[in-house]
Amino acid sequence: MTRHFRTAAVIGAGTIGLSWTALFAGHGLTVRVSDPRPDLAEAIGTALAAFTPHLTAQGLDTDGLADRVHFAADVTEAVRDADVVQENGPERVAFKKELFARLVREAPGHALMLSSSSAIPATVFTTDLEDAGRILIGHPFNPPHLLPLVEVVPGERTTEEAVQAAVDFYTAVGRTPVVERQEIPGFVGNRLQSALNREAVYLVQQGVVSPEDLDTVVTHSLGIRWSTVGPFLGSHLGGGPGGYRHISAHIGRSMQQLALGQPSQDPKDRERVIEAVEKAYASTPYTHLAEARDRRQLAVLSALEDIRRNQHQKEN
Ligand SMILES: NC(=O)c1ccc[n+]([C@@H]2O[C@H](COP(=O)([O-])OP(=O)(O)OC[C@H]3O[C@@H](n4cnc5c(N)ncnc54)[C@H](O)[C@@H]3O)[C@@H](O)[C@H]2O)c1
Repeated sequence: MTRHFRTAAVIGAGTIGLSWTALFAGHGLTVRVSDPRPDLAEAIGTALAAFTPHLTAQGLDTDGLADRVHFAADVTEAVRDADVVQENGPERVAFKKELFARLVREAPGHALMLSSSSAIPATVFTTDLEDAGRILIGHPFNPPHLLPLVEVVPGERTTEEAVQAAVDFYTAVGRTPVVERQEIPGFVGNRLQSALNREAVYLVQQGVVSPEDLDTVVTHSLGIRWSTVGPFLGSHLGGGPGGYRHISAHIGRSMQQLALGQPSQDPKDRERVIEAVEKAYASTPYTHLAEARDRRQLAVLSALEDIRRNQHQKEN
C-alpha cells in the first residue's frame, strides 16, 4: 500500500534541517520544526527566503511556502501528527539514542522515522528500542533541497515496509533514493568522498599542489564527468569499444596498485592545511561562496533535466 505523507517533523534545524524544511514545504507538506536554538524563527525565515529561488528553479510552487512551516515548542509538539520524521540533530550516538527513544513514544504509531546521520548506522542508536522497525537512515548530501541523492540505509531490525516507505517518501519529494544493504561506516557516498579527500590532503601536505589548484583539477575534470557518468560507466567508456574489461586489464591494474598517500595527523601538519585552505577561501564571506556553489549546482541540474526531458520526448 502506498503511504501518504502530509505532515513532516524536522528535528534539528541547522544546515541540513533547514534545507529539508524548505524542500518538504516546497512539495506541499506541512512541516513542524523543532530545535532549541534561540534564533529558530529567524533562521527558518532566512533559509526559506534564500532557498525559494532554488525551489522555483526546480519547478516547485512556492506560494504559501512559509505558511506551511510551523515552529514547534519542542519535539513532542513537532511530532504529534507526523507521518514522517526527519532527524538532523548533532552527530552523537548518545543524542540520537535518547531522541529516538522519545520519538517512538511520542510520534504516531504509523510515522516513519529517518535520520540524516552521515556515519552512525541506525542499529547503533536503536539497540535498546522495541519499536526499531520503522527507523532507518535517510542520508542526504548538502544541501538536500538541491542535491538529489538520499542514501536509504536500513538497520538490522528495520522492516522492508519501512524501507519501501522511505523510498516512496524521498521519491515524492523529488529526490533520488538509493537503498544500501549493509550498514558500513560512512555509508557509500562519504566513503567515496573520504577516499578523495584523504588523497587531497596528502597532496597538499606534500606540497604537490595548492588547495585552489587541487579544487580546479576536480571541478574541471572529475567533477564534470561524475555529474554525467559514475566511476564504473566512466571506466567502461574509458576502455573504448573494449569497455570495462579492456580498461581493467590495460590501465586498471596499474591504477589499482598505485600507492596512495596517508595524510599526516600531526597537529602541525593538519594546521598547515587548514591555514592554506583559509588563505584560499576565508576572505570571501561564507554566504557568497555557498550562493555561488548553489547557482552552479542548479545550472548543472537544470541542464541535465533538459537533456532528460528531450530524451523522454524523443522516445515517446
Ligand atoms: N552538514 C552536512 O554536510 C551534512 C550532510 C549530510 C548529513 N548530515 C547529518 O545531518 C545531521 C545534522 O547535521 P548539520 O550539519 O545540520 O548540523 P548542525 O550543527 O548545523 O545542526 C544541528 C542542529 O541540531 C540542533 N539540536 C541540538 N539539540 C537538539 C535537540 N535536542 N532537538 C532538536 N534539535 C537539536 C542544534 O541546535 C542545531 O541547530 C548530522 O547527523 C549530520 O551527520 C550533515
